[in-house]
Amino acid sequence: MRTLVTGAAGFIGSNLVDRLLADGHEVVGVDNLSTGRIANLDGALLSRHFTFVETDIALPDLQAVVAGVRPDAVFHLAAQVDVRKSVTDPRYDASTNILGTINLAEACRRAGTRRIVFAASGGSRYGEPTTLPVREEVPAHPLSPYAAGKVAAEMYLACYADMYGLAPINLALSNVYGPRQDPHGEAGVVAIFGSAMLAGRPTVIYGDGQATRDYVYVGDVVEAFTRAGQAPAPLTGTFNIGTGIQTSTAELHHLMCEVVGNPESPRHEGSRTGEIQAIALDHTAAHSALQWDPRVDMREGLRRTVDWLREITVAPVGAASVATGPEGSRR
Ligand SMILES: NC(=O)c1ccc[n+]([C@@H]2O[C@H](COP(=O)([O-])OP(=O)(O)OC[C@H]3O[C@@H](n4cnc5c(N)ncnc54)[C@H](O)[C@@H]3O)[C@@H](O)[C@H]2O)c1
Repeated sequence: MRTLVTGAAGFIGSNLVDRLLADGHEVVGVDNLSTGRIANLDGALLSRHFTFVETDIALPDLQAVVAGVRPDAVFHLAAQVDVRKSVTDPRYDASTNILGTINLAEACRRAGTRRIVFAASGGSRYGEPTTLPVREEVPAHPLSPYAAGKVAAEMYLACYADMYGLAPINLALSNVYGPRQDPHGEAGVVAIFGSAMLAGRPTVIYGDGQATRDYVYVGDVVEAFTRAGQAPAPLTGTFNIGTGIQTSTAELHHLMCEVVGNPESPRHEGSRTGEIQAIALDHTAAHSALQWDPRVDMREGLRRTVDWLREITVAPVGAASVATGPEGSRR
C-alpha cells in the first residue's frame, strides 16, 4: 500500500511509521516538527520505502504532496495536541486541527484517496459521561477548544464522505502511553511520572489522585490504525480505542513506583480546574468492525515505557519537578 502519515515525527505517528514500514508499505511522512522530533524517524529514514516531507498540513503545499503520492490510505495524526494551549489560543488550535484537516480532506478528494484514518480524541469527545465505559453513540460534548476542534474535524470528514465518497475512520483514542511520548510535554502523565522518577525528581499529583483515565499502550493503538487503514472501504465512522479500564492517578503512580523501583512519595497539590473526573472507553465496536482488542496489559506497557525512558533520560542534577497528575492528559 502507498500510505501517507501526517504527524509522522510525533509520538504515535512515528510508531505507526515504523509499523507500516515493517509491514512492507510505502510511507510518506508529513510533519512541521512543531512538537514532533526528527530523531523519532531515525530508523525510518534508513528505509528506501520512507520519504519525509517537512511541511504544515494547513498550507497549500500539502495539496501537491498528496497529489504526488496518491496514497491508498492516509493516516491523519498531525494536530495541535495541548489542551491548555487550545484554551489560551483557540484560533491557533483551530488553524491546525480544523483548517488543517479540511486542507487534507480536500487534497484526498483531489488525489482520489478514499481511506483516511483520523486520530480523534476519545478522552475528550464525550465530556464527563454518566455511564462508563462510554460508547460511541453517546453524543459528543466537547469541554475545551481542543475537544471541539477534534469533533469538528470528525464532522468535516463525515461531510466529505457524504459529498465525495471519502471513507474516514475516526479512531477515538483514550490516553495513549508508551515509548517516544514526550516526557517534557504538558500531557502524557506516564512519561512525566517516569522521567521524574528516574531522574530522582519529586512527582506531583494534582487533586486527590482519584481521577481516572483509560490508559492504552501505543503498540495497541498502532495496531488499530493499521487495521483501519486496510479495512474495506464501506467501513466508516467513529470507533473507540481504549481498554475500558479506569486507572486512578494514585494507582498509576503506585504502579510506576513498582516498575521503576522507587519508594512512593508523591507531592499533592490542589486540583486544576476544568479536568474531567473519570473516563473509560467501550471498544466493543472496534472489536466487531476491526477485530481489535488491546493486548498489552498496563504493567507490561509501563515496563516497556520505563525501559525506553531509561535509554533516553539524561537527568540534569537538581532540575525542577515537571511531574503532573492526569491534568493535560485528557486527550
Ligand atoms: N497521545 C494521546 O493520548 C492522544 C489521545 C487522543 C488523541 N490523540 C491524537 O493523536 C495524534 C498524535 O498525538 P501524539 O500524542 O502523537 O502527539 P505529538 O505531538 O507527538 O504528535 C503530533 C505531531 O503533529 C505534528 N504537527 C502539529 N501541527 C502540525 C501541522 N500544522 N502540520 C504538520 N504537522 C504538525 C507535530 O510536530 C507532531 O509531530 C494527535 O492528533 C492527537 O490529537 C492523542
